[in-house]
Amino acid sequence: MSRIGLGTAQLAFKDITAEQAIATVHAALDSGVRLIDTALAYTREGVESYAEQIVGRALAQRPGRREALVATKGGHYRDGDDFPVDASPEALRANCDTSLRNLGVDRIDLYQLHHVDPRVPLAESVGALKELQAAGKVAAIGLSNVSVAQIEQARAEAAIAAVQNRLSLADRADLPTVAYCAATGLRYLACLPLGGPAARRDDPVVAGVAARLGLSVPQVWLAWVLAQGAHVTPLVGASRPETIRQSAHSGPLAMGDLALIDQQLTHK
Ligand SMILES: NC(=O)c1ccc[n+]([C@@H]2O[C@H](COP(=O)([O-])OP(=O)(O)OC[C@H]3O[C@@H](n4cnc5c(N)ncnc54)[C@H](OP(=O)(O)O)[C@@H]3O)[C@@H](O)[C@H]2O)c1
Repeated sequence: MSRIGLGTAQLAFKDITAEQAIATVHAALDSGVRLIDTALAYTREGVESYAEQIVGRALAQRPGRREALVATKGGHYRDGDDFPVDASPEALRANCDTSLRNLGVDRIDLYQLHHVDPRVPLAESVGALKELQAAGKVAAIGLSNVSVAQIEQARAEAAIAAVQNRLSLADRADLPTVAYCAATGLRYLACLPLGGPAARRDDPVVAGVAARLGLSVPQVWLAWVLAQGAHVTPLVGASRPETIRQSAHSGPLAMGDLALIDQQLTHK
């Protein structure tokens, strides 16, 4: 079993065929990936949640298998080149029904609030997710792009299972939230764990560690994220079977290499 999850944003945003996108999902499953993260907003212009539809089709092609947990997000959608936030209870209810239909499931394993809506009290958004859970449409509730204060506020309203925020070697600012999640028993889903599709990953210390361990540089980036705790799952974006296959074979960095890389980054 792999410790990474598959992130599906690139399946929608990169110019690839549906066949390649489905093959990428299947390659992830065949490599032991057991969590797929998607979102209503991961779509192509004019299509209703393309990435969710791809995930639904990929899973439907392997009937009878219950291979992976599927996480998706609502409260954020695409409108042309804009990505507006609407986390009102009505929008979240409608978004959830859309996601259930696209994924072809009766219940979403993890339903996440994609962004806090500044126009809607967080308690109202979370209250709507709690109602979806009570209705059996959602197994567990997650939050994304949140501060520790917002997580605490949400936890006063409902049981929160997971937090999804940005974390990578290029963006370490959220480490206090990682520690908070460890202390409170929440799963931490690290998004953009490779710094995004256009990231430069050319640090010579990281390259040296990769060469010594016989790993690729992206595998060392993922190993750094995995080393932040057993409760951390990097959600790795991929649009090709070969990249997700390689990323699936990533484990945590040993303490010495973690300290070496952290020291190097701190001095930059
Ligand atoms: N909650 C949020 O607001 C939020 C925001 C952004 C992202 N996310 C989640 O996080 C996921 C990941 O983010 P992301 O896709 O933007 O960025 P990312 O995972 O940091 O980087 C994705 C890029 O890494 C490349 N890659 C993967 N494994 C590789 C390997 N072994 N060797 C070389 N390159 C490799 C992929 O290349 P190929 O395309 O060539 O395979 C892809 O373009 C998303 O899919 C989404 O699920 C969430």
